[in-house]
Amino acid sequence: MTRVFNSRVFNFSAGPATLPVAVLEEAREHLLELPGVGMSIMEMSHRSPTFEAILAEAEAGVRDLLGLPSNYHILFLQGGASLQFSMVPLNLLGGAPGGEARADYVLTDQWSQKALKEARKVGAAREAGSTADEKFRRIPRPDELDLDMGASYLHLTTNNTLFGTQWKSLPPSGDVPIVADASSEMLSHPIEVERFGLIYAGAQKNLGPAGVTLVIVRDDLLRQTPPDLPTMLDYKTHVKTKSLYNTPNTWGIYIIALVCRWLRGLGGLDAMRKINEEKAALLYAAIDATDFYQGHAEADSRSLMNVTFRLGTSGAPHEALEKRFVQEATAVGLDGLKGHRDVGGLRASLYNAFPRAGVIALVDFMRDFERRCG
Ligand SMILES: Cc1ncc(COP(=O)(O)O)c(C=O)c1O
Repeated sequence: MTRVFNSRVFNFSAGPATLPVAVLEEAREHLLELPGVGMSIMEMSHRSPTFEAILAEAEAGVRDLLGLPSNYHILFLQGGASLQFSMVPLNLLGGAPGGEARADYVLTDQWSQKALKEARKVGAAREAGSTADEKFRRIPRPDELDLDMGASYLHLTTNNTLFGTQWKSLPPSGDVPIVADASSEMLSHPIEVERFGLIYAGAQKNLGPAGVTLVIVRDDLLRQTPPDLPTMLDYKTHVKTKSLYNTPNTWGIYIIALVCRWLRGLGGLDAMRKINEEKAALLYAAIDATDFYQGHAEADSRSLMNVTFRLGTSGAPHEALEKRFVQEATAVGLDGLKGHRDVGGLRASLYNAFPRAGVIALVDFMRDFERRCG
């Protein structure tokens, strides 16, 4: 098979990941000088009116796309989603009167395990469900969860980047607000906003470049935060200063503003979800069409964002063939298909900006590879 694309490859990486070409073109066009400003966004004060307008556009874009009411704050922080593993419990587990706050964590991959580990350093956090002993092939069913209806929050990883699973609906949690690590599905579909107390996401998959973390937090959750938190780790600091307590990632926020504009131009999150469903369906159909390919995730838990699969029968994946698959795919411009080291096999990440043409090219490659090696 010949190379499928001229210079830009089809980038299946799980993150940092492919961005919309229209966004990259606009950023290139204005890299040296933003119109009317005479300097690059990267050279500009974060206190300038121009940057404040960009920040306001990014915030309005996220608010509009998700339909967030005004009692949700939108923050652009740093430290990655990983810092949120600590900031969430520091703010939400430490402050209840009598120190009685508790949190539930459902474990659906290594990221949620890491989040729980950090929360336990801060307070009473417990495992409320897990599919670890099934290699995280699926999302737990609601009847398998042991939820504490008096918890301060329930933490979920809504899309599991490594194993390729995704929550299709939120578990019933009564009045307990859900705290979601949505790093690998943020802005890929509409959400039931009112179920969430806090949502966080590293930008480098669906939103923009690495180095900026989007945090959305409901105002009432911040009423009982401990008074003595380190300033930078206190959500209230960033709420009060509108993400400008210190120098934010100005470039990252600029790209997020452009990505939101691009998403709105496509028709918003309903339209984006439909596009994502169609792309993922093409690939899952190719996996299911033959025994040569085996999906890792169970059918009802399959992620629209990260498609994980193996070569060979599920009991005995053929690692040498997988290696060859990755090498040959890379050579024809299908890049980043190697699965995460903890899972093995192959992973195709189909984030918002990943083009349908790339999925079709992968499916063609898979058929050709099976003809030659099956
Ligand atoms: C679901 C999920 N959570 C957290 C992280 C960690 O994000 P960061 O590298 O921004 O700390 C990742 C990164 O890939 C992820 O996929």
